[in-house]
Amino acid sequence: MSISSPGERVTVHFFLLENGQPAYMARYGDRIAVDTSALGLLLSQGRLDRNFRVQNSTAGSHDETWEQPWGEQKRIRDNHRSLAVELVNSEGYRMNVVFRVFDDGFAFRYELPQQDHIDEFEVMDELTEFALVGNPSAWWIPAYAGNRYEYLYQKDPVDDLERVHTPLTIEAGEDLYLSVHEAELIDYPSMVLKSEGGGKLKCDLVPWSKKNPVKSYNQTPFKTPWRAVMIAGRPGDLVTNYMILNLNEPVGKGDFSWFKPGKYVGIWWEMHINKGAWHQGPKHAANTANTKKYIDFAAKHGFDGVLVEGWNEGWDGDWMNGGTKFNFTKSYPDYDVEELCRYAREKGVYIIGHHETGADIENYESQLEDAFQFLEDCGMKAVKTGYVENGDTLPNGIYHHGQYYVRHFRKVMETAARHKVAVVAHEPIKDTGERRVFSNMISREGARGQEYNAWGENGGNPPSHVAILPFTRLLAGPMDYTPGVFDLELPTQPNNQINHTLAKELSLYVVIYSPMQMACDLPENYERHPAFQLIKDVAVDWDTTIVLNGRIGEYITVARKARDKGDWFLGGLTNEEPRSFSIASDFLEPGAVYEATIYADAEDSHYRDNPTAYKIENKRVKAGDTLEIRMAPGGGVAIGFMPVE
Ligand code: NOJ
Repeated sequence: MSISSPGERVTVHFFLLENGQPAYMARYGDRIAVDTSALGLLLSQGRLDRNFRVQNSTAGSHDETWEQPWGEQKRIRDNHRSLAVELVNSEGYRMNVVFRVFDDGFAFRYELPQQDHIDEFEVMDELTEFALVGNPSAWWIPAYAGNRYEYLYQKDPVDDLERVHTPLTIEAGEDLYLSVHEAELIDYPSMVLKSEGGGKLKCDLVPWSKKNPVKSYNQTPFKTPWRAVMIAGRPGDLVTNYMILNLNEPVGKGDFSWFKPGKYVGIWWEMHINKGAWHQGPKHAANTANTKKYIDFAAKHGFDGVLVEGWNEGWDGDWMNGGTKFNFTKSYPDYDVEELCRYAREKGVYIIGHHETGADIENYESQLEDAFQFLEDCGMKAVKTGYVENGDTLPNGIYHHGQYYVRHFRKVMETAARHKVAVVAHEPIKDTGERRVFSNMISREGARGQEYNAWGENGGNPPSHVAILPFTRLLAGPMDYTPGVFDLELPTQPNNQINHTLAKELSLYVVIYSPMQMACDLPENYERHPAFQLIKDVAVDWDTTIVLNGRIGEYITVARKARDKGDWFLGGLTNEEPRSFSIASDFLEPGAVYEATIYADAEDSHYRDNPTAYKIENKRVKAGDTLEIRMAPGGGVAIGFMPVE
């Protein structure tokens, strides 16, 4: 049985192997994108991997253009064909495999319909394979490792991968790029991939805990998450692939109009660079006076939110190892919650709450309702959550990326939605498109962010890191990278600095998408820099996103049009190599004239020894003009185009 995408670019073949095991293969044009790959589930109630026959199959198609309430692209087209294959095995067990095929990828999921044979069940293994042709290279980070998703990506042949997280981006040829990920991860463990040799990757579901090998507890009728393969002829087209969102259920599960994308500052970076502290004592940063200073700064410069970390009880002991319990409604004595909520409201900004849980989910869940009521009462429209732990499991021995934490993560989304609070999650479950349903699930970390530059070993993130993220981590969804360090040499951190030029820090506001974008540096480091204007001007909600060029790990240039406005922004960045590009500005509105403000590296900028040198140039630009951009080693460029009346 075969099914082709609406434009016939992608074709998926479904068949049964000799032993009656379901399998598939996929073509992209006349090339094999994924070769014969087995499918199946092993339940403790029975094997669903052999002796199947096809009972029925139903083909369908769908073409709809929908609007994101906020996002990197306002209108998204969901144009696919589908095939639902109903299988029954020799023992009478029923399992369906449902495919959706798009012009830029395909996805499938297992469904276990209601049936006499299975009611409550335990998944012991998922046998899904992705058989790649040859032994192509993939950009990977390790799974089951102590720092969750916070690793530098490495590029290696797939046969060398042990167990890796998704999205896993594969360079299958000069003009064939794939990324394997999942969508709609609701009540199931995360899918990790492991190499089986011969170019084959197999799904490796995260078990419940080290002691309990069960992967998932469910009940029929049940649907697994979608297993998705994005396909592109050039890396930039992976960045604008919206399949993961399309695979999630349509919007409309609540009123989220109260959330508006925005920008924030916060009591945060000063702790990471060791100027302040989360815990009590002379360096305690979350005190009333310091918070007022940030609120004043936010109000003066048009920021929407002020994040405050270290405001609540729990930071004084060894919280990372379960030594102290966090309290989510009790502040430290030098932090006057009521007064600060009042003060923020008076100044027209809101405080962003902080729930560091130390990954003690039981402690957090026991306070969840009160914690979110507390945020709502104060008018805190957003919360940053955190799940730092030491080791590869939560303190109770349960795996960080297994079903237990997936369920918890969903509970937080739902609770937050009821209290009209938006969530920015650190140490999260990877994004699988939940924002389509929960528009308050706005952003996540889920990779090595800016903070590693403050204290990471080996000097933090190398210049190539942010040239990899757009093609890997960001394919999952928005990221709270927290850009915008201007004091790049980090005087208080002798072994670290930011491995970017200042113009490259600016480029991140366009390249790395998040609907809630932080300006993470200290207020005093912004006020002395004219380049701060770009951070104030840049949009956070977009109508259109275009990737103008890019090579994974080397460079990327992105143009985005602000939503409901005529402004465009461009961000370009490079790894440690200097680069020059002639960019055709055909993306601009034909006939319109723009005042372009160009924030570029200076002639002598260099990420290592001259990171803060930059220049600002203004000029008139119209559609079709060629822009010459030059980026220093570890450099970048940011351009704002404002229509001239
Ligand atoms: C790790 C988070 O990524 C970081 O942003 C936060 O400041 C610390 N945990 C403390 O919660």
